[in-house]
Amino acid sequence: MSATSVIGLQWGDEAKGKVVDIFTSKNDIVVRYQGGANAGHTIVADGKKYKLSLVPSGIFRHNVQSVIASGVVIDPESLLGEINTLRNQGVAIDTNLLISDRSHLIFPWHKEKDRLLNALAGQESIGTTMRGIGPCYSDKYGRSLAVRLGDMFRPNAKERLREIAKANADYLAKADSDKSYEELTSESLLATYLDYAEQLKPFVTDTTAYLLDAVEAGKNLLFEGAQGALLDIDHGTFPYVTSSNSSGVGVSSGSGVPACYITKVVGILKAYTTRVGGGPFPTEQDNETGQKIRDRGNEYGTVTKRPRRCGWFDAVAARYTARLSGVSSLAVMLLDVLSTFDELKICTAYEINGQRTANFPSHVDDLRAVKPIYETHPGWQDDVTGARNFGDLPRNAQNYLNRISEIVSRSIGLVSVGPDREQTININL
Ligand code: IMP
Repeated sequence: MSATSVIGLQWGDEAKGKVVDIFTSKNDIVVRYQGGANAGHTIVADGKKYKLSLVPSGIFRHNVQSVIASGVVIDPESLLGEINTLRNQGVAIDTNLLISDRSHLIFPWHKEKDRLLNALAGQESIGTTMRGIGPCYSDKYGRSLAVRLGDMFRPNAKERLREIAKANADYLAKADSDKSYEELTSESLLATYLDYAEQLKPFVTDTTAYLLDAVEAGKNLLFEGAQGALLDIDHGTFPYVTSSNSSGVGVSSGSGVPACYITKVVGILKAYTTRVGGGPFPTEQDNETGQKIRDRGNEYGTVTKRPRRCGWFDAVAARYTARLSGVSSLAVMLLDVLSTFDELKICTAYEINGQRTANFPSHVDDLRAVKPIYETHPGWQDDVTGARNFGDLPRNAQNYLNRISEIVSRSIGLVSVGPDREQTININL
């Protein structure tokens, strides 16, 4: 028995999908346990390209069960779209996917609230993905207006939905008198959502019981994190975070599998740093350097297509999130993007109001005040995409990676030098 988790250690988009894909073959079950359709990645399997948002990457292996666990928030329309696309592409989704009856559902009013809250915040906006994620988790914690997938199959489902829709429409109409929200209470909308639930019903089960039985029976589990640890609701750059525990601490709460079963945690880092949406980003390069990283790394959001903010590697942040997530080894992705830079910088410490620190601050105002302290490293001009062993990399690239490993205090188990599965240096994962 072993359970491995794959956790992004920055602000998301660390190319976790590739590492999950590499690990999937060694596991019986792959589990998504937090977040929702705010995440997105592209998987290349058997020469075909697939876009995934909620469905775990394990779905492409016939002998692997994929599970969407209780901590995930589900937009049924979007999930059914994904399921149908995969079904039409010949993927064995009908036998290999399970969805938790405890997962919470996203409705149109959640997306309306997301839009409204972002607009009200103006300059201070979190810049969410507008997928209704935060409002759905708010209802989950608020409890009275929440709807779980399992609720949709109860005899009173329609009446309850009707009441909740009305409460939301009334709230939105008061908050925003410019728009009519009547449609949210229409009988046809309620019927559509009940029908979505019926379509999802064959996949729905008590995944907590299923996963506990599986670990106790000695099955191998892989937990696929979404977003990155700096977006964690409790430990990230609050309030510029997502609404779930996206660091390693979220695996148990989201899946129901206790932490004692997790024997390996792989922390995923880009060789530089990116962020989408608002919030402080100490090593951001809003200049030619950032643009060069964006161009070379094709740094545009998978879900929203927004250009990602780009900057130097922040080892203070990475050390913090590696510790927080209990990381056992690192996977450094997109190293090839850094080829052709004359010099590279690594942020090794922060100066906050005249004080030097190696610790990541807990308050957003302190993070805003950070002056990054950099070390400069010579770059390399060579193309590294053909490297398959650490020794194949240019000496300067080796030194750069070794320095990251040293500051983050974790060994590097994998280096990715291109998008394909083969473009990987597997050191010791
Ligand atoms: P939300 O998760 O849509 O509420 O957005 C909250 C913040 O998390 C915003 O800054 C988003 O850009 C960011 N975010 C959410 N999901 C992802 C992701 O998968 N990758 C990167 N950033 C994300």
